[in-house]
Parts: sequence; structure tokens; C-alpha cells
Amino acid sequence: AYNERESLFIAVNFAKEFFQQNLKTEEGQSIGLSYFKERGFDPVTIEKFDLGYALDSWDQLLVQAKKSGFEVENLLKAGLVLERENNKGNYYDRFRGRVVFPIHNLSGKPIAFGARILTQDKKQPKYINSPETAIYHKSDVLYGIYQAKKAIRQEENCYLVEGYTDVISMHMAGIENVVASSGTSLTASQIKLIKRFSDQVTVLYDGDDAGIKASLRGIDMLLEGGLNVKAVVFPPGEDPDSFARKSGKSGFQNFLKTEEKDFIHFKIDLFASEAANDPIKKAEAIRQVVLSISKIPDPIVRSVYAKESARLLAMEEDILLTELNRQILKQQ
Ligand code: GTP
Ligand code: MN
Ligand code: MN
Ligand code: MN
Ligand code: MN
Repeated sequence: AYNERESLFIAVNFAKEFFQQNLKTEEGQSIGLSYFKERGFDPVTIEKFDLGYALDSWDQLLVQAKKSGFEVENLLKAGLVLERENNKGNYYDRFRGRVVFPIHNLSGKPIAFGARILTQDKKQPKYINSPETAIYHKSDVLYGIYQAKKAIRQEENCYLVEGYTDVISMHMAGIENVVASSGTSLTASQIKLIKRFSDQVTVLYDGDDAGIKASLRGIDMLLEGGLNVKAVVFPPGEDPDSFARKSGKSGFQNFLKTEEKDFIHFKIDLFASEAANDPIKKAEAIRQVVLSISKIPDPIVRSVYAKESARLLAMEEDILLTELNRQILKQQ
């Protein structure tokens, strides 16, 4: 007999293949495949990411899985079906009428799904995800890591984005060293995962307030994890997916190269742009930069950044170092 984890891998893989097959049905072609085409996803990319379609039905996956010999208990534990609240012992598919993005582990096995609604229905969430299971710990996983790991090593850098479609569009733009945190705030264990492949991360979060806030949080966590951190700010309302499609392959690659800043410049530009003539705002900018530097574990790297930011902020190094040491003591 298989152990539980093994049986969940098999169930999730069955679902992945079912969702892929669905893309070939009439409904799948006219709804799912045309959605992907509208977004500019080509067949090679659809295949590379195992993209699929969940039929607009209450139980097509359940019915087919049972026919193939799967126990409901197993499908439940894999997060594929749900029990009806008002009719216990009855089950229905979790993913219905949505395009499906399988989430793979490091060795390429599907372990969970994200699924996107096709229309702008305000009553339903845009994405739904598999729940935590014995094989899917959301906080340990990065979307795209399997497709990215080789390129991350080669490029000695990892791009970090927010969403599934950002990862996919960047692959189409010729950039394969990219993973997504998928809407959750970055965790220490996701950072450790990146660190297995590279010491350098470039944060590419959405150009909206939420994206900038998440970048700031993410940057400090990455610094704490001992990584070198850069960031790119996207124009308001753009994310890597929308911007890549707008600017084309080489336009997008050039944008990344010219717009990427180390975290100090990112923070100074963010906090100090309006602070030039305002001493109070400038003081706040300095504190923000020093706060990030204080997260760097290596004292030599820390002191290099302290020197550099004193220069950039046109302030005496001693004062900056005093504030830095105060921050470090406060955090101990
Ligand atoms: P598109 O609108 O398809 O381009 O998706 P996006 O990735 O640009 O979405 P957005 O920037 O709004 O969110 C970034 C990521 O957060 C998504 O890729 C999802 O992983 C996650 N996310 C967004 N909306 C939801 C939601 O309603 N529920 C859940 N669970 N996750 C979401
Ligand atoms: Mn775990
Ligand atoms: Mn967003
Ligand atoms: Mn987005
Ligand atoms: Mn988007």
C-alpha cells in the first residue's frame, strides 16, 4: 500500500492530467484555451506550466476520479473536493469553471493548484487555491521554482514576482529565473529555498500601493536571510505580466536592466524623492534606509552599505553609524 503522501501525489497528478485533458474538450477550447490565448500564452508555455481548465460542473473531477479507483477520502485530503455543508457524505469539486495553474514542488511533481476565474465576477475571489495538505505547505513553496531553478543558478539571480501570470509572461519574454510568492507575504522558508540556488534576488512587485508595501517587507526579510537585494518599480497599475506584454521581449529585458536598483536606491527614491527640502521627511528616509541595513547579518557587508548610503544621503557617516548601531541593539 502507498503511504498517505504518496497517495496525495497520485491524486493531484490525476487532477493535473484531467485539467489538461479538459483543455481539449469543446468547453475547454472555447473557454479555457481561448482565455490563455487572449493573454498571449502560447502552446509551448501552456505545456511547460501544465496549465489546464476545470470544467464548469459540480463534480466532473470527482466522478472521473472515482471511476479511476480513487477514494473520496483521498481526494478530500488532496484538497480536490469538498464536503457539502448541508448534505454530509456528499462531495463536490473545489475547482470549477476556472483556468488552472498547477503548483509544482522542486522535483516537478504537482502538489496543489491555483485557479483563476474567467470573468470579472465581483462576488467570487479572482483566484482560489488548494488548502494546506500533507504535501502542500503554502509557506514553503514558490510558484515556478521547478521551471526556474536551473536558470536561477546560471544567471546567479532570482526574480521575485507576485503572481502566476507574471512568472509565465516572463518565461515568454525569455526570462526563466523567476518565481512567485503567489499573493502571500514572503516567508523565511521560501527565502531559504531561493538561497539554495542564488544569493541574489530582484524584487519585481506590482506597481500599486500593495505591491510597494509588500516589496518593502520582502526586501527586509531577504536582507535578513543574507541575500543581496535589488528591486524594480513598475509604473502605476502595471505588473510584470502586463508590462512585458506591452513592451515586448527586448523592451522588457531592457527595462529590467535599466530600472533595477539596489535596495538602498530603491528606498531612498521611495522615501526621499519628496523629502529633498523637508528635513523631517529626510530624517524619516534615513531611518528607513538604516532600518534595512540593520537587517544585514554580515557586518562587513553592512558597513559597506552604511558608507554608501551616508554618501548618497549626503550625511556624516558617524551619525548614520550611530543610528545603525542603535537599531541593531534595539533588535537584539
Ligand atoms: P491577473 O489578474 O490574472 O493578471 O493576476 P495577478 O497575478 O496580476 O493578480 P494580483 O496582482 O491581483 O495578485 C497577485 C497574486 O496574488 C495572484 O497571482 C494570486 O496568487 C494571489 N491572489 C490574487 N487574488 C487572489 C484571491 O482572490 N485569492 C487568493 N487566494 N489569491 C489571490
Ligand atoms: Mn513544511
Ligand atoms: Mn496587485
Ligand atoms: Mn498582478
Ligand atoms: Mn496581472
